[in-house]
Amino acid sequence: MENSSLSRKFTSRFIAGQKLEEGIQVMTKLRRENIDTSLDFLGENVTSLDEAAASRDSYLKVLAAIRAAGVPATVSVKPTQLGLDFSVDACRNNIAQLVEQAAAMNSRVEIDMESSEYTDRTLDIVCALFERFHGSVRAVIQAYLYRSEADIRRLNALTVPVRLCKGAYRELADVAFPAKNEVDANYVKLMKLLLDEGADPAIASHDENIVRAARLYTRDRKIPSTRFEFQMLYGIRRDLQRQLIADGFRVRLYVPYGDAWYPYFMRRLAERPANVLFIARNLLRS
Ligand code: FDA
Repeated sequence: MENSSLSRKFTSRFIAGQKLEEGIQVMTKLRRENIDTSLDFLGENVTSLDEAAASRDSYLKVLAAIRAAGVPATVSVKPTQLGLDFSVDACRNNIAQLVEQAAAMNSRVEIDMESSEYTDRTLDIVCALFERFHGSVRAVIQAYLYRSEADIRRLNALTVPVRLCKGAYRELADVAFPAKNEVDANYVKLMKLLLDEGADPAIASHDENIVRAARLYTRDRKIPSTRFEFQMLYGIRRDLQRQLIADGFRVRLYVPYGDAWYPYFMRRLAERPANVLFIARNLLRS
């Protein structure tokens, strides 16, 4: 499925392409529109440490390509793509090599957050790397987890940059708010904590209510738009992305590329049932 030529037809809305050059092309085009990017070389839950090392090497190439293009992009990585299922040390060492290269080129590695079984280990890695490389690393916190307020307070105290998202994995009610309105309310609460006290926070959401709340809050508190950024996923709410740019806000798009697109793509479908109809229509047309 991941390698079929038909797949390109229905993945192209969310995924820049299969090759690094396609990711770089999208990054360069977005930059011309004043939009920043974080490139994601798709993949997760690798099945060996050799595969994890290969992912790390691919990311080193991504960073080199970003540097060659002279564009202020970051990369986003998944710890399970870099070996977290096998060894925390190996995973940390793999990510450290990426952060070291990112730091040398004034870029940053954003460490995606996966399901809650990985949260503690992922935050330990982020904090260890932050001690060595400071702002060249950014954590991700998911508003659906009950624990996230405590995590944000801890990261704010350490001045670790944070991307706040709602959370994309299936979680049980003993760790995560089951109702969407509770997740949304917690998001706004955590967002305010980040905007008040956080270092270079990223507000990652396509939710108009959340974007509006962030705009009102920063306006009322006189928090300048240089102190935070909005983040969205490639292909989602392009209208809102462009509106924010036109209004003078910083926007960074998460741009995935690569052939291991299946889990990422399925999460995007699950977030919005209308996407399934969109795909079905495209398949019928082909
Ligand atoms: P919500 O789901 O309420 O959607 C609000 C509106 O946005 C919808 O009404 C629709 O208009 C639009 N929309 C949202 N999703 C859509 C979709 N798939 N297709 C079409 N329209 C859609 N999660 C995680 O667990 N770990 C992570 O590391 C990250 N990283 C990350 C980075 C960035 C830059 C973003 C924007 C998001 C993530 N996420 C993530 C995903 C996040 O947790 C969440 O699942 C999605 O962003 C959807 O939530 P919204 O905040 O957009 O709100």
